[in-house]
Amino acid sequence: MAKRGPWPNHFFFQIILGCHFLGSGSNAEKGSYHSSASNLTRSSFPAGFVFGAGSSSYQIEGAACEDGRAPSIWDIYTHNDPEKIADHSTGDVADEFYYHYKDDISLLKNLGFDAFRFSISWPRILPEGKISGGVNPAGVQFYNSIINETLAIGLKPYVTLFHWDLPQALDHDYGGFLSADIIDDYRDYVDFCFATFGDRVKHWFTLNEPYEFTYYGYGTGGYAPGRCSSYIGNCTSGNSATEPYIVGHHLLLSHAAAVKLYREKYKASQKGQIGVTLSCKWSVPFSKNTAGQKAAQRFIDFMLGWFLHPLTYGDYSQIMKSLVGDRLPKFTESESQMLKMSYDYLGINYYTSLYAATSALSSNSLNLSITTDNRVVSSEEKNGVPIGQPTALSWLYGCPIGIRSLMLYIKDNYGNPPIFITENGVATANNGSVEQSLEDEQRIAYHYEHLTYLLKAIKEGADVKGYFIWSFLDDFEWRFGYTVRFGITYVDYKNGLRRYPKNSAEWFNKFLQGKNASTNWLLGITETEAASVLQINPRSTDSSVV
Ligand SMILES: *[C@@H]1O[C@H](CO)[C@@H](O)[C@H](O)[C@H]1NC(C)=O
Ligand SMILES: *[C@@H]1O[C@H](CO)[C@@H](O)[C@H](O)[C@H]1NC(C)=O
Ligand SMILES: *[C@@H]1O[C@H](CO)[C@@H](O)[C@H](O)[C@H]1NC(C)=O
Ligand SMILES: *[C@@H]1O[C@H](CO)[C@@H](O)[C@H](O)[C@H]1NC(C)=O
Ligand SMILES: *[C@@H]1O[C@H](CO)[C@@H](O)[C@H](O)[C@H]1NC(C)=O
Ligand SMILES: *[C@@H]1O[C@H](CO)[C@@H](O)[C@H](O)[C@H]1NC(C)=O
Repeated sequence: MAKRGPWPNHFFFQIILGCHFLGSGSNAEKGSYHSSASNLTRSSFPAGFVFGAGSSSYQIEGAACEDGRAPSIWDIYTHNDPEKIADHSTGDVADEFYYHYKDDISLLKNLGFDAFRFSISWPRILPEGKISGGVNPAGVQFYNSIINETLAIGLKPYVTLFHWDLPQALDHDYGGFLSADIIDDYRDYVDFCFATFGDRVKHWFTLNEPYEFTYYGYGTGGYAPGRCSSYIGNCTSGNSATEPYIVGHHLLLSHAAAVKLYREKYKASQKGQIGVTLSCKWSVPFSKNTAGQKAAQRFIDFMLGWFLHPLTYGDYSQIMKSLVGDRLPKFTESESQMLKMSYDYLGINYYTSLYAATSALSSNSLNLSITTDNRVVSSEEKNGVPIGQPTALSWLYGCPIGIRSLMLYIKDNYGNPPIFITENGVATANNGSVEQSLEDEQRIAYHYEHLTYLLKAIKEGADVKGYFIWSFLDDFEWRFGYTVRFGITYVDYKNGLRRYPKNSAEWFNKFLQGKNASTNWLLGITETEAASVLQINPRSTDSSVV
């Protein structure tokens, strides 16, 4: 446990329990350990380290019915099931980035960032989803304009090819990623993107968070297309026991097909790189015994490992095969070869950590579901003490040390690949005035501390190449609609979508100019249980649960 300053006694008591914080206590308390964690500057990071800000098409673009764009599954989901979105909203208008992109990109550059992460909307480029259904020239023109503008102003584009907005036409035709037919259509779509934009885009990501897309879209029904078993949620159809694994399988094969294509047809001439963005929460054993360790390991194997294991080693982990059984599809030998090492780098989205314990569930329960297959009960608190700083979202506790643990875990178990943190950030409630919302000291503290622990991981050997905040702009946050704001830029939804940089944007501006951007409002997290890097190897063939 690092000793960083003269803390009050109760703080010592709390930090041994978890990745803890001082709560919303007085400023005097916060100030008491402030000076110990200062002097983080841009030059603390390796030369060439990239700082960027992120976004995705459906969350910011708006112009949903303009210029030939066809609906995605998210348009259909939000319009058909408004009660599934916290404020019954849609992405129809969002931030109208479609019209404001020039000013937005210019703002990002002025804040001092190096890179802009955005995604291409498949149904804006190919309204029918398929090349044979025709290319939408206005959509192509839009992305050409963004890319050109980004480069002209001195930012690097980091482009996600699929950030969940699947063309509705493909869902209608064959169930989207439920069918292996998707692989050819996805390959054709990305082929078009590489051919059209690859002269200028050098950093590609095939997919964003296949885990969330699959788990919520086909496991709980909380995301488009809203499918699940009746014993899991309120969905009109679906199968939470089988569909998520089928969809995940086809996402993996689509990714592998895209990477193979890029490497064979474009990489030599375009000289770019390609990877995938995966998400993972850091997982801390609830109990410090073997069962606790195994539960924490299983949580990670089912979240990160589901995708990263095949992408690295060519097959699902033993523990997933054992617990999911026949419901987990199998790879052929040639698929396995195609998957193996199918990334030049990884994008990792990290937000939070949790405690994991073994669930009491009987393994032959009738109501099988992806939501219980990992045999883990997770919790955000232990003995009444939360794992990190509570935020406006019930699943998001600020636990910065978890980012270090996750980086070291990937380094140790997956061959130390180059990593971009493609998302890290925190939401605040959308309930204050503009002025109140601009004072986002909690967000500054969140980023400051995550950067601090990311830097630790780099010094311990993790090959981290860049850090993208989530998010550049307040946006449509999926099932939370506009009820939460993740942006460093405030978007005034009530007054013409006017943009205002928040204090966190100003903080980044200082930091990115190489100034000593200290903060006097820290989360107060220090070395804790979340610092432990799991000892169990994900390649282990031991599939016993306890
Ligand atoms: C801040 O910088 C000083 C001088 O370079 C160094 O001794 C100290 O360890 C640094 N503090 C932190 C928290 O990194
Ligand atoms: C950075 O600023 C903090 C707070 O103002 C100060 O305590 C610290 O010494 C400064 N560090 C450097 C390296 O200037
Ligand atoms: C973007 O830049 C490319 C390459 O420089 C150029 O061919 C194209 O016309 C530009 N497109 C737009 C929409 O600005
Ligand atoms: C399965 O789900 C149904 C419907 O929710 C429920 O009535 C039943 O008790 C569940 N069975 C088991 C074994 O959990
Ligand atoms: C289930 O969904 C339907 C339509 O989407 C809605 O009308 C109904 O109120 C929902 N039921 C529950 C229990 O949430
Ligand atoms: C906004 O909501 C948060 C919790 O979600 C609460 O702590 C805060 O006091 C609220 N602010 C206002 C101005 O209502």
